[in-house]
Amino acid sequence: MSQATSTIRPLLRTRQVREFTDEPVSPEAVDAIADAARWSGSSQNKQPWRFIVVRDDERLRALAALGLPSTRSLATAAAAIAIVMPTETDRAISDAFDEARAAERMLVAASMLGLGAGLGWVPSAVRDEFGAMLGLPSDRKVRSVIAIGHPTEAASRPKSPRGEARLPRNQTVFSERWPD
Ligand SMILES: Cc1cc2nc3c(=O)[nH]c(=O)nc-3n(C[C@H](O)[C@H](O)[C@H](O)COP(=O)(O)O)c2cc1C
Repeated sequence: MSQATSTIRPLLRTRQVREFTDEPVSPEAVDAIADAARWSGSSQNKQPWRFIVVRDDERLRALAALGLPSTRSLATAAAAIAIVMPTETDRAISDAFDEARAAERMLVAASMLGLGAGLGWVPSAVRDEFGAMLGLPSDRKVRSVIAIGHPTEAASRPKSPRGEARLPRNQTVFSERWPD
């Protein structure tokens, strides 16, 4: 492994975790993850997001149940951070881009803290109800939510055979021009 690859290893090690132990997560860790999100860059620095930290066990399980199977990582999470975005907007594409940047940062931050995190996509059919459970006004929605916790041993194991989790570099990264 090159020195460069080794330096960026926290990024390469960031994976989707969908099952967590009962071990609590410190408020400091959750705050740090939320800070990583709010410091994300956004189009024209609009910062269209707001974040709701959920730690209440009952609320976490209810949110999980609502969006199954997408939201299954919330079923065992110690905490979650919901990304609240504007509902109606002429900036739908850049908002989605901004949202994704914040989401990915939270996954990376959790991993760097020795935690696991998983992105849950709230299905559109239950999005209004999901928002209502978080007290959102009608001009706000939650489309993605980050579940956070200590990964179980099973969830920490590789999901694919070695070398198969991603397409190989020669099929995804090209030099100078599209390959013939
Ligand atoms: C836009 C988007 C939506 C996703 N939605 C969900 C989801 O609803 N539930 C879930 O468990 N994982 C979801 N994922 C996680 C992907 O399944 C995961 O990133 C992919 O399988 C690679 O996993 P790995 O990094 O652990 O290899 C989503 C990922 C993205 C980028």
